[in-house]
Amino acid sequence: MPSRPTIAVTRWIPDEALKVLREAGEVTVSREDRPLTRDELHEFVAGASAVVGMLHDRLDGGLAAAAGPGLRVVSTVAVGYDNIDVPALTGRGVVVTNTPGVLTDATADLAFGLLLAVTRRLGEGERLLRGRTPWSFHLGFLLGSGLQGKTLGVVGLGQIGQAVARRARGFGMEIAYSGRRRADAGVERALGARHLPVDELLATADVVSLHCPLTPDTHHLIDAAALRSMKRAAFLVNTTRGPVVDESALADALEAGEIAGAALDVFEKEPEIEARLLDRNDVVLTPHLGSATVETRTAMAVLAARNVASVLAGNGPLTEVPA
Ligand code: GLV
Ligand code: GLV
Repeated sequence: MPSRPTIAVTRWIPDEALKVLREAGEVTVSREDRPLTRDELHEFVAGASAVVGMLHDRLDGGLAAAAGPGLRVVSTVAVGYDNIDVPALTGRGVVVTNTPGVLTDATADLAFGLLLAVTRRLGEGERLLRGRTPWSFHLGFLLGSGLQGKTLGVVGLGQIGQAVARRARGFGMEIAYSGRRRADAGVERALGARHLPVDELLATADVVSLHCPLTPDTHHLIDAAALRSMKRAAFLVNTTRGPVVDESALADALEAGEIAGAALDVFEKEPEIEARLLDRNDVVLTPHLGSATVETRTAMAVLAARNVASVLAGNGPLTEVPA
């Protein structure tokens, strides 16, 4: 009997996904409760036919070389794949898959939660109470900004951007968007979404929410000049990838009062956070929780596992990353 393929999983995954993987091969899961270092990762994947990786793993030609010529598929449990050198892997005949679709609603919910938290000063209110600060209701106490009639500027109207826009419509917001590609006319119509060049979008929006992937083009898309071009009363929400925002420029802009606040789920150098943001009351911070629901994380891991099983069975990937 030919030996079963080995599948290396770089960090904990839900049992439902493990079950799928165990039917497809011999599974090894890293026992570390932290990302593997590059050397550890390379040692861990040696001889693997499949690698199931996370967004903190660098999945590149070095990883393929460390795995060896038997490597057939690299499956990331994430929709974003900026951590993967796709050409280096596909050039070696390795299939690369991600998990689009299944995390759209969870991520949009979190983005909207952050939007509400920053515009209504929820974190600030919570900290005030937990700090045992005396308070009483009064008409001028902790006033935030209303959303009705305001404009949400969506940067990147893909699946998640559209899902955020649908939520914003439910709150009475107008929708504008920018992005490399114009959305279908039907999508624009359904959302009442206006397409604007990014500089106009930044100057128009009351809340800017980032939903573009991290690429060389979007790295520091929100830099000092972009922040200066936003309205002083505007808010920034980032649930995509940290490096889309120049975090130090963001701290400068908040200090200078160039924008009203920011809500961030992702950071430039995760898990580190620009120290000046940590002390600001006009900043809401969450630790990369976009897809963090039981249902969604299970669906992501199962999809990642099914991709592996399908490739190892010779049936090709279910959700290959776009070339
Ligand atoms: C999470 O950040 C993802 O890309 O799925
Ligand atoms: C506020 O609590 C109100 O009753 O208006």
